[in-house]
Amino acid sequence: MIKPVSGFSKFSKEEKINWLLSTYLKDSPQSESVLKQYWNTDGDLQKLHEEFTENTLSNFYLPFGIAPNFEINGKLYAIPMAIEESSVIAAASKAAKFWGSRGGFKAEVLNTVKIGQVHFLFNGNDALLQEFFIEVKPLLIESVASITKNMEKRGGGLLGIELRNKTELMEGYYQLHCKFETVDSMGANFINSCLEKFADVFRDTAGYYPKFTEATNLEVIMSILSNMVPECIVRAEVSCPVEDLKDDNISNPELFAGKFLTALKIAEVEPYRAVTHNKGIMNGIDAVVLATGNDFRAVEAGVHAYASKDGRYTSLTHASIEDGIFKFWMEIPLAVGTVGGLTNLHPLVKVALEILQKPGARDLMKVIAVAGLAQNFAAVRSLVTTGIQQGHMKMHLMNILNQHQATQNEKKELISYFKKHTVTHSSVEAQLEKLRQ
Ligand code: MEV
Repeated sequence: MIKPVSGFSKFSKEEKINWLLSTYLKDSPQSESVLKQYWNTDGDLQKLHEEFTENTLSNFYLPFGIAPNFEINGKLYAIPMAIEESSVIAAASKAAKFWGSRGGFKAEVLNTVKIGQVHFLFNGNDALLQEFFIEVKPLLIESVASITKNMEKRGGGLLGIELRNKTELMEGYYQLHCKFETVDSMGANFINSCLEKFADVFRDTAGYYPKFTEATNLEVIMSILSNMVPECIVRAEVSCPVEDLKDDNISNPELFAGKFLTALKIAEVEPYRAVTHNKGIMNGIDAVVLATGNDFRAVEAGVHAYASKDGRYTSLTHASIEDGIFKFWMEIPLAVGTVGGLTNLHPLVKVALEILQKPGARDLMKVIAVAGLAQNFAAVRSLVTTGIQQGHMKMHLMNILNQHQATQNEKKELISYFKKHTVTHSSVEAQLEKLRQ
């Protein structure tokens, strides 16, 4: 029987590993060397990574790659991506090349407002609360002056505070719904610090507000930013005459464009397809979000909420053909930063931002949206032409070979063989066995 461990967080790294080995890894003693194999030989760098979070035992690698040749608003980018899934970076690169010769990607930030809320309960009269809010609002604004000062210097700050009555949803439920501009930072700490200050001042001032009685009972429940950011939107787009869609794999551009639009329509009307369709978009988005040290869980949550903003989960991308012009676009919410958080700490994130030519948050929003749109174009293009398995399995070939500890020579032979043959798990195993006999 395994017993709960106490004081685990105070153990040294070695003690933590030893505890694991004697508790959960008795049958797997080699795990110790695997964990240690991933320690960085540079002690300071290792320590930096360990201190990002708690109870760190080792590092967990993801490939860090580049999709070059992305023309965005006339400027050429190489986009850094951190992702484990084979064929994502290849697909992005292919889409970049395709659209590079057809006018490139256009991207535009539509707005950059972030939201935070103080959630509270109030049993009294609504009009009285509104009256109190008008009186307390200047105090709330004043209370965060020391926090907002620096942000204001950078062009951001608090944009507004609204009192929202949510009692239709839940008895006594109200919010302070606050809007912020956080410029180049994602702004989570800034927003949460402001909100907690608002909550304190709001609660304390209510405590001695003469018109409130005991029974009125204003109770702050929590203060937190929202990862739903429908006013922090970036748009990415490509377009070209339908006949220009022609290339090696698209012999009939009209047929292709028609099938592409139908595929998009299916993703618009059918949630089972929409989720997978949007997952393909997130392949591109998450990879750049991760490589640039941003919070991919926040981005994921916000994007999927946006995909269902009209009450039904639907496609994030859209396409049209008008006057012979094929247009493909996407608008998504993205709350990301290029200062603060991991961006100043993680050496690879710093490299990623250098590769992107030190973007501000708005530029990064554009790059991320373009990566998502490109990924979706590549996926839907494959789906309505060759199917995805052909490309996917070609890229997956290396994983299968590595699983079987193929030597460099074996890899060379089989990569060449599978240029002309279909890759399946069993066909690779069979060919490898044949080679080894
Ligand atoms: C696989 O990671 C992503 C796709 O399933 C996306 C799609 O179906 O559009 C290929």
